[in-house]
Amino acid sequence: MLETKDLILRQGTANDGHDLYRNLWSRAEVFRYMFNKPSPNEAAGLSRTAAYAEMHKEVSTEFFVCEKASNQVIGIAGIKELNPGHWTITDIAIGPDFQGKGFGKQVVKVLTALAFDSHGATTIAYDCFRQNTASKQLALSCGFIYSHSEPAELQKNGENVTLDYYIRNK
Ligand SMILES: CC(C)(COP(=O)(O)OP(=O)(O)OC[C@H]1O[C@@H](n2cnc3c(N)ncnc32)[C@H](O)[C@@H]1OP(=O)(O)O)[C@@H](O)C(=O)NCCC(=O)NCCS
Repeated sequence: MLETKDLILRQGTANDGHDLYRNLWSRAEVFRYMFNKPSPNEAAGLSRTAAYAEMHKEVSTEFFVCEKASNQVIGIAGIKELNPGHWTITDIAIGPDFQGKGFGKQVVKVLTALAFDSHGATTIAYDCFRQNTASKQLALSCGFIYSHSEPAELQKNGENVTLDYYIRNK
C-alpha cells in the first residue's frame, strides 16, 4: 500500500467494482487517449474490476487509487520494469470527477519514489498519446523530460497513434 496526502494506492478487491464502474469504466472521456475502452455496462465493469483485483495478487506494483476523503476508488495506476533498472509508468487514469485536483501528480510522484527507492530503478519512462495534453503536462510537472516519439503498434478507432515518450533519471 502507498499513501499520499489525499490518496491511498492499494491492491484491489472485487468489492471495488461499483466505485470503479461509476468513476472510471463507464466514463468514455477517460479512454479518449488510451487503447483501453470503457465498459459497456455495469456487469462488464464488475468483471473488469475482478480481473484487475486478480492481477493485483500477482503484480505488486499495480494499484487502485482511493480518495481518502470520500473512501472511494477513483482510478488505476502502476509501474512495471521493462528491463533491468528501466521502469515505466503503466496506464494511469483518474475519474473525471476527480481530475484537476493534483491527484495525478500525487500518484506519479509516489510511483516514481517506489520505482527509484524500492526497486532500484535508474530511469522511469512515461508515454502518452501526442494529443493528450493533460497527460503530457502531468509528466512534465513531475520532472519528466521529453525523449522521443514513435508510432504505436496498436490503432485507436482505426486511426494510427503517435506516442510521445518522456523520461526521468534518478
Ligand atoms: C492524465 C490524468 C491522469 C491527469 O490527472 P489529474 O489528476 O487531472 O492531474 P493533476 O490535477 O495532478 O495535474 C497535473 C498537471 O497537469 C495539468 N493538467 C491537468 N489537466 C490538464 C488539462 N486538461 N490540460 C492541461 N493541463 C492539465 C495540471 O495543471 C498540472 O500541471 P502543473 O503541476 O504544471 O499545474 C487525467 O487527466 C486522466 O486520468 N485522464 C484520462 C486518462 C488518461 O488519459 N490517462 C493518461 C494515459 S497516458
